[in-house]
Amino acid sequence: MAFTGASARVTALTLLYAAGPLLVGASCVLPNNTVMINPLSYNVYGSNAVFRNNTFANLFNPTNTTAPFFQVFDPSFLTVLGDSPSFRVIASNPGFAFAHEAPIWVPSTQELFFASAAGSPSGFSDINHNNQVAKISLNDVTTAIAQSSNATAPVNVTVTTLDLPDTVQMTNAGTGPYNGSLLLVNSGRGPLPPNLVLVDPANPQNATVILDNFFGRQFNSLHNAKIHPTSGNIFFTDVA
Ligand SMILES: *[C@@H]1O[C@H](CO)[C@@H](O)[C@H](O)[C@H]1NC(C)=O
Ligand SMILES: *[C@@H]1O[C@H](CO)[C@@H](O)[C@H](O)[C@H]1NC(C)=O
Ligand SMILES: *[C@@H]1O[C@H](CO)[C@@H](O)[C@H](O)[C@H]1NC(C)=O
Ligand SMILES: *[C@@H]1O[C@H](CO)[C@@H](O)[C@H](O)[C@H]1NC(C)=O
Ligand SMILES: *[C@@H]1O[C@H](CO)[C@@H](O)[C@H](O)[C@H]1NC(C)=O
Ligand SMILES: *[C@@H]1O[C@H](CO)[C@@H](O)[C@H](O)[C@H]1NC(C)=O
Ligand SMILES: *[C@@H]1O[C@H](CO)[C@@H](O)[C@H](O)[C@H]1NC(C)=O
Repeated sequence: MAFTGASARVTALTLLYAAGPLLVGASCVLPNNTVMINPLSYNVYGSNAVFRNNTFANLFNPTNTTAPFFQVFDPSFLTVLGDSPSFRVIASNPGFAFAHEAPIWVPSTQELFFASAAGSPSGFSDINHNNQVAKISLNDVTTAIAQSSNATAPVNVTVTTLDLPDTVQMTNAGTGPYNGSLLLVNSGRGPLPPNLVLVDPANPQNATVILDNFFGRQFNSLHNAKIHPTSGNIFFTDVA
């Protein structure tokens, strides 16, 4: 989910709003705003093909569909989308990539946490400035949508910044909740060490560092993590 490309710029959060029962049956009638792509069809482009040069500027769009739309790579995703998926901006802050990475949904409180771009001017963060971890209330989103007269017009719910301890520097990824806590993956800042940190999603959002070295060696730039669904083991990457 996370990326650090300096050109990446995400200044809005978009809610995938799916409503109603799934009407898609074996006939494979696709809902609106949706294209089905079988990745196996694109395994080989051949030596004369034009390959994409830039992940962000040159999108994978073999159907040439006008954005925004959903690319479905596996039919099981249709059960997530429902029969009438659409797009709507739910919070935006032009010029500030405040919702760049580390999304964590906490079902018990219906809150969504996320971080601004790490180590990037677009995220208002650099060697001297930590990035921002914040949250929105999905109940606020539901209320805003209910009050909106238009099914796709943007709404702008309140973004609440977390007041985290200095042990949390440059959050680059997040997952969980893990035993009720957010698991933040921090890439560190200058001499401040990269680490894995558990954060209580409730106030006062206290944090516990659970790892900041590999047999005495500081990590370079912790980048991403996944929690194994049955063992609970945490798998993470440290980029060179
Ligand atoms: C990709 O880069 C190569 C080398 O710079 C260039 O020749 C080619 O036109 C580029 N292709 C696209 C799709 O931009
Ligand atoms: C999409 O556009 C490209 C470039 O114009 C073209 O080569 C390709 O055939 C188009 N694909 C479809 C499915 O229309
Ligand atoms: C799908 O799009 C068509 C054409 O724009 C529209 O008439 C129809 O109401 C849409 N259906 C749903 C379920 O949104
Ligand atoms: C949404 O609200 C925030 C906080 O008030 C504000 O900074 C931002 O500019 C608003 N977005 C838009 C598109 O007005
Ligand atoms: C609904 O909102 C969209 C996005 O802002 C806008 O393009 C569209 O014109 C609006 N439709 C109506 C009926 O106001
Ligand atoms: C998470 O909870 C499980 C089950 O209670 C426990 O065994 C494990 O030690 C906990 N892990 C952490 C990091 O707290
Ligand atoms: C936060 O503090 C509470 C109360 O002391 C404690 O139960 C909890 O384990 C702490 N959580 C973290 C992630 O540090």
